[in-house]
Amino acid sequence: MKQVYIETFGCQMNKADSEHMLGLLDEINYKPTESIDEADLVLFNTCTIRESANHKFYSQLGIAGKLKKNKPFLIGVGGCAAQDKKDWLMKNFPYVDIVFGTNNIQSLPEFVKKAEKGERVCEIVNELPFELPELPVIRQTKVTAWVNVILGCNFNCTYCIVPSVRGRERSRKPEDIKKEIEILASQGFKEITLLGQNVTAYGYDLALNYSKEKAVFGHIPDDPEYSLAKLIRYIHDVDGIERIRFLTGHPFHVTDELIETVAELPKACEYFHIPMQSGDDTVLRRMARVYTAEKYKKMADKIREKMPDAAITSDFIVGFPGETDEQFLNTVKIVKDLNFDGCNTAAYSPRPDTPAAIWENQIDDDVKNERLRYLNSVINDVSEEKNKKRLNTTQEILVEGNSQRNEERLSGRTRTNVLVNFDGDKNLIGSLVNVKIKEAKPWSLDGEVIL
Ligand code: SAH
Ligand code: SF4
Ligand code: F3S
Repeated sequence: MKQVYIETFGCQMNKADSEHMLGLLDEINYKPTESIDEADLVLFNTCTIRESANHKFYSQLGIAGKLKKNKPFLIGVGGCAAQDKKDWLMKNFPYVDIVFGTNNIQSLPEFVKKAEKGERVCEIVNELPFELPELPVIRQTKVTAWVNVILGCNFNCTYCIVPSVRGRERSRKPEDIKKEIEILASQGFKEITLLGQNVTAYGYDLALNYSKEKAVFGHIPDDPEYSLAKLIRYIHDVDGIERIRFLTGHPFHVTDELIETVAELPKACEYFHIPMQSGDDTVLRRMARVYTAEKYKKMADKIREKMPDAAITSDFIVGFPGETDEQFLNTVKIVKDLNFDGCNTAAYSPRPDTPAAIWENQIDDDVKNERLRYLNSVINDVSEEKNKKRLNTTQEILVEGNSQRNEERLSGRTRTNVLVNFDGDKNLIGSLVNVKIKEAKPWSLDGEVIL
């Protein structure tokens, strides 16, 4: 038996991919270890969404490189940065044994076998195979699970590297997804999150039978044969699964069908992570986001009209090239107006081979950082206010495990994905409990179980 230490950067899709990498490696007898010192293979599943993601990875890679001087082991690099920087990685890091991409994870065992024989392997392919492989998996969680449903992204936001490192949208077949969820249910998982970079576009490519010629950008069929809403309905009857979430949506594809389905189906959680990116129409147009602030607002209103308790969360980028103070303030205003339940924020980071990276009107780092600090303080206030409104309410919590901060306590999430910590017996892990909220913090709640 050999051991693999895996370090994952980036989004939930990367986390899901890492679980498949562990599943594939298990087939050649590599078992996961938490300790890099015991590893025969150190694997990095990388992210390149911003330059800072790259830096985190390079610094960890450097540490692994130093360790390797004292004790031999293999180093593999996969994921989005590898897809982007293949040859450069091979050239500049001679101690890296394997570089592979986002479209050929299924070949990892073969690459490791070659590397064991002393061969350096660099294999990147630009497209996923026509028949998407069903990959083995070793889950890192016990109660909640990730399920990839659509890979890639067909949008071309002018700041974003994802389409070039993840390729075009490819949906998995509903039957394959349901089979995976049935297995999860039989293993005791209670919640699943359907994942995709653009999960709300699920299924449109299936109806087109993968034909690039037939695909019309941004087209949503009137009565689609496949859609995220139909997928949620199709998997809803899997016994044992109590909650269904999906991540990440794009405002363009949030249809009435989806909103109504989430409102109607009891297991579908009222949680919409639908990144807006900017509250200013000019910036949105230059980002190529294909909606206006008004259109986003209408979507949010529709969600809240059908589900008054629904949570809507977003991502925002500040300091996009050419963003004026006034345009930035439109983002601040919208954060307050729309009363988001939570927002991720980032300073714009120029990415290689994306249109906005070479525009001349780049914003100074100082200005970006100041805008980021200001927006974050506004978001903190909005979230704290929102959380305070939950004081003394009773929330349905799926108990996920021990609290990260205090092993003696339990933690779980509301249907709207807010983290709640409380005292309780370990036997409650994996069950739904009612918790009365006693204290509100900006990013979490404290409560007491009601028996
Ligand atoms: N598909 C999702 C987002 C995927 S990337 C969507 O369309 O919203 C995750 C987040 O990273 C984005 O929402 C965006 O806010 C941020 N991001 C992407 N590219 C970035 C860049 N070049 N600089 C800063 N943030 C970026
Ligand atoms: Fe990137 Fe835009 Fe696709 Fe999201 S929708 S992954 S931001 S290109
Ligand atoms: Fe990063 Fe790739 Fe996800 S660039 S955010 S790991 S799709």
